[in-house]
Amino acid sequence: MKPTLAFDVYGTLIDTHGLVSKLRETAGEKAEEFSRIWRDKQLEYSFRRGLMQNYEKFAVCTRDALDYTCAYCKIPLIGLRKEELLESYRTLPAFYDVEESLKGLKAAGFRLYAFSNGSAEAVETLLAAAGIRKMFLDVVSVDDLRSFKPNPAVYSYFLKKSRASGDNAWLVSSNPFDVIGAVSAGMRAAWVRRSPEAIFDPWGIEPTLTVSSLTELEEHISVYLLAERRRY
Ligand code: 2OP
Repeated sequence: MKPTLAFDVYGTLIDTHGLVSKLRETAGEKAEEFSRIWRDKQLEYSFRRGLMQNYEKFAVCTRDALDYTCAYCKIPLIGLRKEELLESYRTLPAFYDVEESLKGLKAAGFRLYAFSNGSAEAVETLLAAAGIRKMFLDVVSVDDLRSFKPNPAVYSYFLKKSRASGDNAWLVSSNPFDVIGAVSAGMRAAWVRRSPEAIFDPWGIEPTLTVSSLTELEEHISVYLLAERRRY
């Protein structure tokens, strides 16, 4: 069977900094910093809620992180403006390399899934808005388990839902914490390092392979698997 690919959504398929130009209207030259803090806090809140076993949907982490960021940057976003921003977050854009790469992988017979911290409803909306929903066999959300990545249980849940085994299933993610979580839970993982500035956490747990864009993924996985078959 061709490998199963679990695509991380926020930050890998979908650009979480896709609202920077919209943020400029209110945050001016702080827009980039605002976007970065918002994303970092959103993830931190998901990690903390996971550890505390005090689950709320990822959209709640996003909303709370937005409130924190407004306070930190001293930019009060009131009423409608905040709702408008959160509504736009539901239809963030896909990265430039996503559509073509997914088409190629699907045509080559890989089993494609979206696997996310986002609720199934939020991910369905995002993928449909980006015009890529049809590329995936299914959406697997951590929401079913009421926990978040990188809890090992959510990677096991993915394997169960996709009926795949860890040695034939790859997480594809730009988020180092996610890559480390998947490898640690027994999956393979490709780190999508679109920027040479991106740093991988120095934990001694390495990605199975690294690509600089999704365009390289099909070839790199195929070469890796061929070399592995030759070894055994
Ligand atoms: C996702 O699960 C980690 O935010 C990332 O979609």
